[in-house]
Amino acid sequence: MFEQLFRRKNLDQIARDAEATEGRLKRTLGALDLMSLGVGAIIGTGIFAIIGTASAGGADHLGAGPAVSLSFVITAIACAFCALCYAEFAALVPISGSAYTYSYATLGELVAWIIGWDLIIEYAVGNVAVAIAWAAYFHQLLEGFGLNIPAWLSVDYRSAHQASDLVAAAGGSIRPDLALAYEAWTAHPTLFGIPIIFNSLAVLIVAAVTWVLVIGIKESARANNIMVALKLVILLFFIGVGSFYVTPENWSPFMPNGFAGVWTGASLIFFAFIGFDAISTASEECKNPGRDIPIGIIGSLVICTVVYVLIAMVLTGMEPWQQLGVADPLAEAFARRGMDWAAGIISFGAVASMAAVLLVFQLGQPRIFFSMSRDGLLPKGFSKVHPRYQTPHVTTIWTGVVVGVISAFANINEIVELTNIGTLFAFVLVCVGIIILRKTDPNRPRVFRTPFVPAVPLLGIAMCIYLMAGLPWVTWVRFGAWLSVGLVLYFLYGYRNSRLRNKDLTANERE
Ligand code: ALA
Repeated sequence: MFEQLFRRKNLDQIARDAEATEGRLKRTLGALDLMSLGVGAIIGTGIFAIIGTASAGGADHLGAGPAVSLSFVITAIACAFCALCYAEFAALVPISGSAYTYSYATLGELVAWIIGWDLIIEYAVGNVAVAIAWAAYFHQLLEGFGLNIPAWLSVDYRSAHQASDLVAAAGGSIRPDLALAYEAWTAHPTLFGIPIIFNSLAVLIVAAVTWVLVIGIKESARANNIMVALKLVILLFFIGVGSFYVTPENWSPFMPNGFAGVWTGASLIFFAFIGFDAISTASEECKNPGRDIPIGIIGSLVICTVVYVLIAMVLTGMEPWQQLGVADPLAEAFARRGMDWAAGIISFGAVASMAAVLLVFQLGQPRIFFSMSRDGLLPKGFSKVHPRYQTPHVTTIWTGVVVGVISAFANINEIVELTNIGTLFAFVLVCVGIIILRKTDPNRPRVFRTPFVPAVPLLGIAMCIYLMAGLPWVTWVRFGAWLSVGLVLYFLYGYRNSRLRNKDLTANERE
């Protein structure tokens, strides 16, 4: 049994399987395309929404204050170490499936299952957060056009409940970041005595994205490039116009909650960097993966870090940090100055950026289910392809339904924390994988080698654990529960049905 838990897929076999099932993809992408792919997957909710709570703090964490720019730098360094490990794997196992596939080849089936299960947190749970943030910006955008969606259809029940407690505690005074949720609490319909409060806009966007993915979209590099250009232009617009409204006094004190605030801020803001790993899944389509993948990954990280730090400086210079804890801080910074036109431009950019991130992640999740099902770790139905649209419709619809339902009722901060802990854990396992693979398979030709092994992966592991430690304990409990459920499912299903195990069993029977 022990042997099976750590049974590994052969790297050459993985490559052959991929060729057999997916056919050879054309090698057309260069370093610039990859950078664009990365920036497209990275820029979204983190910079448009989460920067607010990371800086102002929340119910269960301290705020970084103006030093949120430092939180961005710390997180970027952690991601850079992990990115170098991702790059070696991506060039070595150049097929889709991401960390799940890498670990199947290096750390064995049990760890692969754990990562696959864990990636559900990065992709599906992460998307819940993106959908909720999208809804908040979209609500503002509609309001700008004079369309008011009732508050009870725009927030989740728990946020409304929390807002009522906070307003009561503050003697009835309503902070601007609580206004919408409080309004939902004070005016909502009921059904058989049950209050009806849910985030209908989040459900709407998830349904729309799912529909688009089921009927199939052509992922075109051109559409992505246009999207990336739009994101960068909007963010540069914020930096350019916002810098005229900076009051340097807002930067002091720079670290109002000391380094502890910067640390928890970094643990939250990590969400803003999730997505660079998407580049690794495109290595099969690169002209020169050995050179271009590391340039693409590191390049997109550098671009995003520079833009993020500038935004953080401008935003915290425009508003006192305590007032940034709203769902749409970048737009709000202009709206509070009566510059509704500028707030509108930002909201439009945010809505478009986040929809694009949703699309990338909602596309990624079914592919991971697909790989796991092909390996026998999930039921065969998960790898069904639609006869007409040629898309993995079963997993796409399931993902859409689950993400949509949760995003109607979930609280964004808790979801972001869970996503971060899950993704950081996957990064740790990828770094561990690099160290192990250098020992177990030292002579395999590597198109790209992570420099300074084991120092770089070890630093990656240390920094990820450091960021995980900055998250509240309840997030750890939730994560532990999630992994435990995963393990039970593995032993009930995957362990018995694994294709690798059954292949070995048949081979033994033949002997
Ligand atoms: N990094 C992505 C975002 O911030 C997940 O939306």
